[in-house]
Amino acid sequence: MPAFHSLTARQLRAVVDYLRSLQGKAEGRVLPGDPKRGKGIFFGKGDCSACHTISGQGGFLGPDLTEHGATSSADAIRDEIVRAPRVPPIGYRTAVLTTESGEHMEGLVRNEDNFSVQLQTKDGSFHFFKKTDLRSFDRQDGSLMPADYRNRLSEGELNDLASYLMTTPSPNKAAPPRKKVDDYE
Ligand code: HEC
Repeated sequence: MPAFHSLTARQLRAVVDYLRSLQGKAEGRVLPGDPKRGKGIFFGKGDCSACHTISGQGGFLGPDLTEHGATSSADAIRDEIVRAPRVPPIGYRTAVLTTESGEHMEGLVRNEDNFSVQLQTKDGSFHFFKKTDLRSFDRQDGSLMPADYRNRLSEGELNDLASYLMTTPSPNKAAPPRKKVDDYE
């Protein structure tokens, strides 16, 4: 096997994604629980759907999870659900600010550069500010994602949830085309 030094990191990722797409969905993977019960927990007891969307249903404060489990192991999914403390990636960090007119606002920093910031409040609306117009702008630590699921959900319920995420989108439907990766940089 030759070493493929000529491939960029991005091209390698595209190759790996392609190989994974050939592996198919949950086929050949053992589900640790019951995906139907997991769906019930996602939209019910766990309240995941308050923030996450699966196949078009749910909230927008967290990432869309439709594809999250398609290529992950049950262990990795469970670990991710109970991970604490959480350090949110860019786009999911939160801040509290005071506008020029004295209004307080809290939300997700969806976009930011040296001069401006775009905040999305929990009602879904976007607010754009020039930083020089703000009276205060305070970043907050931590994630909107609750960090206590290890206590709120049993082992069995976490296994059901992982099984649900491993089987979305429904294996009966054709998988949506994968995002196109621009190979030539
Ligand atoms: C109050 C909002 C909220 C609730 C409720 C919530 N999450 Fe999250 N979740 C988030 C946010 C925001 C992120 C992204 C930041 C982070 O990783 O902490 C996230 C991240 C995740 C991730 C990682 C996704 C990725 O692409 O890295 C998974 C998996 C996840 N949540 C699963 C769940 C499950 C399952 C539940 C229900 C048991 C749940 N979440 C409940 C807000 C929420």
